[in-house]
Amino acid sequence: MHLTSASVFIDPARCSACGACIRVCPSDILSLENSIAHAAPDTNIARCLQCGHCMAACPENAITIPALDPNLHHFTTFALDHAWLPPGSGLPTHNLARLICSRRSCRHYKQTPVEKEKLTDLIKLAVFAPSGTNSQAWTFTCLTTRAEVLGLGQSIKTFFERLNKKAENVLLRKSLALFGAKTLDHYYTNYYESVKNAMKQMETENRDRLFHGAPAVILIGSSPGSTCPKEDALLAAGNILLAAHTMGLGTCLIGFAVAAMESDRSIQKELGIPESETIHAAVALGYPDETFQRITGRKQPSIRFR
Ligand SMILES: Cc1cc2nc3c(=O)[nH]c(=O)nc-3n(C[C@H](O)[C@H](O)[C@H](O)COP(=O)(O)O)c2cc1C
Repeated sequence: MHLTSASVFIDPARCSACGACIRVCPSDILSLENSIAHAAPDTNIARCLQCGHCMAACPENAITIPALDPNLHHFTTFALDHAWLPPGSGLPTHNLARLICSRRSCRHYKQTPVEKEKLTDLIKLAVFAPSGTNSQAWTFTCLTTRAEVLGLGQSIKTFFERLNKKAENVLLRKSLALFGAKTLDHYYTNYYESVKNAMKQMETENRDRLFHGAPAVILIGSSPGSTCPKEDALLAAGNILLAAHTMGLGTCLIGFAVAAMESDRSIQKELGIPESETIHAAVALGYPDETFQRITGRKQPSIRFR
């Protein structure tokens, strides 16, 4: 095997110089040299993203990218047909559309634990989402017991109790707003009452208004090096939401958890998440204890064709 760059190995005995890899390389680092594909070493102008497009396109299977773990597309809870699905073939759109339209945020869960194998397979599917410059710098922290979820819920509740206390202070709110810091005033106008009410329900009715009784949560974060951390995390979350539905699981994104963890970094410390990481998405999940009768519509979106 011939080493042509730190990231890409091209087997000269297999390469047929067809140029397929060169055509799909997003970084333009591949070229033909002596009738063999060659990857230029990384420079500040162009570097290999390790995206695997060259490897996927090579008809001779001559390319290897050691950074790409082949185990990530081997799943435990289902068998994957590893043949690449060309656009417009194999999977009827109406099946995918039915999945997309049927996924709903779940706010009632059974207490049955979610199998670690399913959580692992969901994370493997999450990382097939696109990521800015293919940085894949996401992290996944799984809370797998109700006790863990409740523990995080308590820390988040404490955060919002403190925030509500601050927001009750008119003088503080108004003087901050006067200096351009309008976040607290905005929070008071839009969220204070509903958060107060939710916290009261949590105490008096023992109702989990934060994670909705979910027995598991996946926190999706980013480690340093990510170019678009928030976008990457939410795209990964999107894969999880859809795939979870096919596995019989309900899910709900919990923005309130993310807001609390962004503002109070000690919450992630309690979970052993390093300070260098930032949490961008929290997905509550579990077996649903609610059913829907139909697919409903959406608000009319603003669409422009030009
Ligand atoms: C970024 C984001 C944050 C959200 N945060 C919460 C949350 O904290 N609690 C909750 O119950 N639902 C939350 N949701 C779910 C939305 O309320 C839900 O997606 C929306 O009402 C549409 O319903 P559907 O997901 O069933 O289609 C969140 C959704 C998104 C996209």
